[in-house]
Amino acid sequence: MFEAQAIASESKAVFYSDLNKQLSGLLEGERDLMANTANFSSLIFLMLADLNWAGFYFQRGNDLVLGPFQGKPACVRIPVLPSPRGVCGNTAFHKKTFVVPNVHEFPGHIACDSASNSEIVIPLIVGGKDSGKVVGVLDIDSPKLGRFDEEDRAGLEAMVQTLLAKTDFSSV
Ligand code: SME
Repeated sequence: MFEAQAIASESKAVFYSDLNKQLSGLLEGERDLMANTANFSSLIFLMLADLNWAGFYFQRGNDLVLGPFQGKPACVRIPVLPSPRGVCGNTAFHKKTFVVPNVHEFPGHIACDSASNSEIVIPLIVGGKDSGKVVGVLDIDSPKLGRFDEEDRAGLEAMVQTLLAKTDFSSV
């Protein structure tokens, strides 16, 4: 059985490097999309401080549709095309990570959980960053304003790369 190990580190870079190694161990030997994204969201929710929601949306036609997550029940469908909605829709549309220090200042933010004050959303891109296909997004929300910085972005993007390398996204 996998046991998440507490990480004693002052440095976010070391913290994420250690967490990424735990993720590799957690996903070892399994490529199933639902199993790996479910375990990924659990590990993030367990190990990162000050979160109220962490999970996935998958691209289905012109929309993002809710996938495995931890937190309160959330909105199911978020349009990407023709006009992206919310932070998640914009992340998928522009194929880049959005770090939003105050969601109340983001035009069109979708308030699934009124506790959310900041968030980071990372695109899942299969087949290379520039020419690849967006298959979904990882959405992480916090009640704390300005919870996520550039080190969180780098650490979480590296973890998403691990997920993409170890998971079969061909059904999306
Ligand atoms: N934060 C998202 C909506 C999804 S929920 O927060 C889970 C957004 O504005 O795109």
